[in-house]
Amino acid sequence: MKKGLFFALEGIDGSGKSTQLKLLADRLAAQGLACYPTQEPTNSPIGAMCRQFLSGAISLDSRTIAALFAADRLNHLLGEDGLCQQFQNGAVVLTDRYYFSNYAYQGVDVDLDWLIAVNRPAAQLLRPNLTIFLDVPPAKALERISASRQQLEVYEKEERLRAVRRQYLAAFAKLQAEENIAVIDADADAATVAGRIWQQIAGLL
Ligand code: TYD
Repeated sequence: MKKGLFFALEGIDGSGKSTQLKLLADRLAAQGLACYPTQEPTNSPIGAMCRQFLSGAISLDSRTIAALFAADRLNHLLGEDGLCQQFQNGAVVLTDRYYFSNYAYQGVDVDLDWLIAVNRPAAQLLRPNLTIFLDVPPAKALERISASRQQLEVYEKEERLRAVRRQYLAAFAKLQAEENIAVIDADADAATVAGRIWQQIAGLL
């Protein structure tokens, strides 16, 4: 059966993931590759609940929101035309956030082993060929967010972003045997970062 490739972009808020996802999708398309760019939380009703939490409109226990992000992910994978289907069709699937976001953001309050167990079905369905972590200093990331938006989401505070970055690195260390991870210095202009990402991807195409 023809199968695709799956790349996940990760990073703290303001790390430039959305810009890089777009640049990467354009570059892949220019090479004639069928590309499927997407993001989590998704636009499904479950993703909409996640966003209500992020905006502060609803408050949820940390375990509840952790499970909700994981449910949104399963729906992303298994829904009609979902990630599994796209991958089976041979697309290069690019997602802005995947289960390492769950490990990093919810891992600040919730046990990491529990989060890994909750996401095991997702890992078994579709493990990224490569997870690309865009590493930027939290203070710099927050500067970028504040410059581009008036309203900050619940996680968009420097102390929190520092803790999230630490959790990312802890999760990468814990899962290094089963995951393929590239930590990229993303404290540079967009074209430079795009070049660094391409260096990691090109060998896998
Ligand atoms: P982000 O990726 O920056 O998207 P947007 O630009 O649309 O705001 O924000 C999504 C937020 O969701 C981010 O703060 C991280 C959070 N998140 C989690 O906490 N856990 C998860 O599992 C996922 C997928 C996202």
